[in-house]
Amino acid sequence: MSTVPVVEAHQIVKRYGATVALDHADLSVLPGQTHALVGRNGAGKSTLVSILTGLTEPDSGTVRLDGQPAPGLSDRDAWRARVACVYQRSTIIPELSVAENLLLNRQETRGGLIRWRSVRRAATELLERWSVDVDVRRPAGELSVEQRQFVEIARSLSFGARFVILDEPTAQLDGAAITRLFGHIAELQRQGVTFLFISHHLQEVYEICDTVTVYRDARHILTTPVAQLPKADLVAAMTGENAVATETRTTSVQSGSPVLQVRELSLDSRYDNVSFDIAPGEIVGLAGAGASGKTELAETLTGLRKADTGTILVADRSPRPGDVPAALAAGIGFVPEDRHHQGFVPEMSIADNTTMTVMDRLGPGIFVRAGERDRLAGTMITRLEVKTPGPQLPVSALSGGNQQKVVMARALAVDPRLLVLITPTAGVDVRSKDFLLGKVAEAAAEGTAVLIASDELDDLRLCDRLLVMVHGELTTELPAGWQDREVVAAMEGVDLDA
Ligand SMILES: Nc1ncnc2c1ncn2[C@@H]1O[C@H](COP(=O)(O)OP(=O)(O)OP(=O)(O)O)[C@@H](O)[C@H]1O
Ligand SMILES: [Mg+2]
Repeated sequence: MSTVPVVEAHQIVKRYGATVALDHADLSVLPGQTHALVGRNGAGKSTLVSILTGLTEPDSGTVRLDGQPAPGLSDRDAWRARVACVYQRSTIIPELSVAENLLLNRQETRGGLIRWRSVRRAATELLERWSVDVDVRRPAGELSVEQRQFVEIARSLSFGARFVILDEPTAQLDGAAITRLFGHIAELQRQGVTFLFISHHLQEVYEICDTVTVYRDARHILTTPVAQLPKADLVAAMTGENAVATETRTTSVQSGSPVLQVRELSLDSRYDNVSFDIAPGEIVGLAGAGASGKTELAETLTGLRKADTGTILVADRSPRPGDVPAALAAGIGFVPEDRHHQGFVPEMSIADNTTMTVMDRLGPGIFVRAGERDRLAGTMITRLEVKTPGPQLPVSALSGGNQQKVVMARALAVDPRLLVLITPTAGVDVRSKDFLLGKVAEAAAEGTAVLIASDELDDLRLCDRLLVMVHGELTTELPAGWQDREVVAAMEGVDLDA
């Protein structure tokens, strides 16, 4: 096998104003490897990806692809032929069909007209070749995250690339979709495709990668075979500290009337006849597979959806159903599933985003006192350890995990009675995860009722009890102290004692 690296980044430096995103960082990926790149939020991983795919020019340093100097930044075709990437954010255009997305900018034309029939045929063949089962006539916006990723991978492979970068591909996928993605990766590996894989789920690194590179604070720390690096050492390399024992939480459940009362709530084909309470200071987890209805149920509590029948009482009052401002006014803070669509306004500053929901508290009428807003945002940035030079930076300039922290900050900023969190730590690094969940526990200790809907068992460990949904019904309730296998079995609808 050739030992010329598929990609070799040498002494890369990249600054954004006062921020050093990459500081003489190296990376070398050999053909056939599935190479993991890990590091905490803001370590410089996505910045490196944008340099390795020709979207950003480094301040200094060199990139070689297959032993050749990288193409010029403007030569998009040359880049596409060498490296493919599924970015942390999608590059699919939702308004266009799958076929149009696949063949964007290279549709066959005759006399200036696009030949739609041949475009569709070409697109179908392309997806078949890479075993992607999607109807090319559908608008891409209707695709699931999983289908969108497969379309993006097929698109880049069709340009001839045999090196694929996946920047947190699993952050938004459920368990079954992750299994299918890994199956796809294994198949492409057999066909000679090399991978660079970025993930905050370290167990995935152990599952599918053979080599790992760790970045910390913009610098390369180590590159080693995965099998030779125990998990504790990997975390130590990422954080620069030895493992800290995670404290077990003491419950803060208060007696007295429940903060949240859900009664016989139903939403057609999503969930059916769901009833439960959450006490002040209580943290309740909501687990369930992709189609269990847990996300839809949580979204109903925040006003993003409206139930067909049933009632929701928050502190004995019933906020207007299906109305987000009404839910906020009732004291519900929430972290939505899709931060890009529901979570924040990327063009607005961190200050505006964190304080959006507390505007009414900051000043009378429509005039927001800028000083007051920046002070509050500053407090939230410090409280949640958002890595940024200051509150005026647009949120889009933050690293992915730090954007998630802004969404969390906003949910906590309202001093909510009820916190509804949907996959709250998606894209957040191991250490920051514990930190954010610690903030949730602090809110509970002050009497906030909390609902956490998540596929990640690590998000659910601090819960006082766990509700499990299967096909739209609440089937199981587990007290704190559950075993992982009990939860997995309950989610699958399997009875362990049977
Ligand atoms: N366009 C930009 N303007 C200003 N700062 C930026 C910009 N892009 C990235 N940065 C900064 O560069 C640093 C590295 O960010 P990067 O996105 O590479 O981190 P990351 O390792 O991908 O983190 P995460 O795991 O959270 O995705 C961060 O401090 C980020 O705020
Ligand atoms: Mg990133």
